Amino acid sequence: MKNTPIIALDFASHTEVIQFLKQFNEPLFVKVGMELFYQTGPSLIKDIKQLGHDIFLDLKLHDIPNTVGKAMAGLAKLEVDLVNVHAAGGTEMMTRAVEGLQTHNPNIKIIAVTQLTSTTEEMLHHEQNIHTTMEEAVLNYAKLAQRSGLDGVVCSPLETALIKAHCGDNFLKVTPGIRPKHSGVNDQKRVTTPEEAKHLGATHIVVGRPITKSADPVKAYHQIKESWLN
Ligand code: C5P
Repeated sequence: MKNTPIIALDFASHTEVIQFLKQFNEPLFVKVGMELFYQTGPSLIKDIKQLGHDIFLDLKLHDIPNTVGKAMAGLAKLEVDLVNVHAAGGTEMMTRAVEGLQTHNPNIKIIAVTQLTSTTEEMLHHEQNIHTTMEEAVLNYAKLAQRSGLDGVVCSPLETALIKAHCGDNFLKVTPGIRPKHSGVNDQKRVTTPEEAKHLGATHIVVGRPITKSADPVKAYHQIKESWLN
């Protein structure tokens, strides 16, 4: 799996994705989320793979262990590189997810969503009835994910140092909410630059609009890639 910035392909159609990717003359690491996948299905995944790109299929599975295990076995056949589940589904669900992938492709990495960045501490306490700080809740799920055999977590760049301290350097910390200096934040609340994310211990960054909405996406990608890798 590459360690270049993961480009979030938040486009409305198969055609728009392929047009966007055609601008690049190099292998990329891209993220396909549920909005796109539910409309385009596996055919888009096959076309992106044919162009030689790595894929993070961001479907955030969360169901009973048997269903998630079988769903993962199906996703493994698509030969994506990275998939995810909600840690809230529990250790048995996460273990079955890993087993489901391994029956078809042991090279696929799997990470967990801990607490969504849209969840506030107020919601944690009053809706989920979890009476800890957000950091403790995130760390608890990260540890459960590691114990279940997952390769890492999706997290805010601001949580990476804590997760690194408890789960180690090799545990993946995939972080959205990245904005290069001088770029707008859009609807992201807490953002860091690629350099800061690296410094805080992120292993991968996910970047969408600063690249996809740029007047020159290839240039924007290369600037972000340089600040991330150097
Ligand atoms: O355009 P932008 O860089 O904000 O895109 C970030 C991507 O990461 C989007 O696809 C968004 O859904 C996703 N994401 C996020 N925050 C999370 C989890 C996923 O922004 N906590």
